[in-house]
Amino acid sequence: MNKTNYPPVSEFVFLGLSTSRPVQHFLLAFSAVFYVTVVLGNILVVFTVTFDAHLHSPMYFLLGNLSFIDLCLSTLTVPKMISDLYSGKNTISFQGCVMQIFVLHVLGGSEMVLLIAMAVDRYVAICKPLHYLTIMSPWMCILLPSGAWVIGLIHSVAQLAFVVHLPFCGPNVIDSFYCDLPWFIKLACIDTYNMEFMVTANSGFISLGTFFLLIVSYTSILFTVWKRSSGGLSKALSTLSAHITVVVLFFGPCIFVYMWPFPTIPVDKFLAILDFMITPILNPAIYTLRNKDMKLAMRRLCSQLLILRKIP
Ligand SMILES: *[C@@H]1O[C@H](CO)[C@@H](O)[C@H](O)[C@H]1NC(C)=O
Repeated sequence: MNKTNYPPVSEFVFLGLSTSRPVQHFLLAFSAVFYVTVVLGNILVVFTVTFDAHLHSPMYFLLGNLSFIDLCLSTLTVPKMISDLYSGKNTISFQGCVMQIFVLHVLGGSEMVLLIAMAVDRYVAICKPLHYLTIMSPWMCILLPSGAWVIGLIHSVAQLAFVVHLPFCGPNVIDSFYCDLPWFIKLACIDTYNMEFMVTANSGFISLGTFFLLIVSYTSILFTVWKRSSGGLSKALSTLSAHITVVVLFFGPCIFVYMWPFPTIPVDKFLAILDFMITPILNPAIYTLRNKDMKLAMRRLCSQLLILRKIP
């Protein structure tokens, strides 16, 4: 195709999740309620972890960072989707789309590293309790979360470097409600087979690899607990099965979006709802709000706030 015959693409059009008006109304209400829950739940966690000195340990730093990422992931896509559903104006500028892809991969990459770090933290706490304090030192506290952010950034830059200079010459319809590489690449006016392969190799295998790593580490934790005593197993099973549920729900859609070879069945955009609206609620609910120390900390903060209000 001769690209000089076409004006360059300045914006993309989202098809959204559905074109039926009643379904759109339902989605609008559904996503508004879920988004508010995501924001409140995760802000509560970030706030508690930051302001309660008793929670300044690796596990809670990781949880706080996870909540922060969930909050950002949701904010990156859901408000735009809500406003599109409300106004019917489903466009995004070219720069906006590239920006969304970039931030999405920084956050997604960091979240994966954080989930691994959390599994390692649990593994050390349960299987090597005597070494916990030496392995999870204050240095580790800083290293793990910042390492997660750096790896997310590298992952995103590495992918975007390949695609920012793709020529676009007309087609600009994205069958989804947010921008991501698989759809973006397909719209370029050159043969993008190599690009698609690169995305599958980079994002796809990272998702798949992390997923297996997590399943293996949780299984080995369960196995250790099981060998030690049968009494501890049921408790560990209930905690870890909750963690495994989140891992499956988070990685399932990623693996689908990047590795599903049949683009004619557009299930990926529906699965993406899991990552932007469901797991950001499950993470605080499962990892944090069920946790005894966390509940105590929230009660402490609450009473401190009440006292502060009474002073003036
Ligand atoms: C994220 O981790 C860093 C440690 O590297 C910590 O200082 C920070 O408070 C954490 N963020 C949250 C929101 O918990």
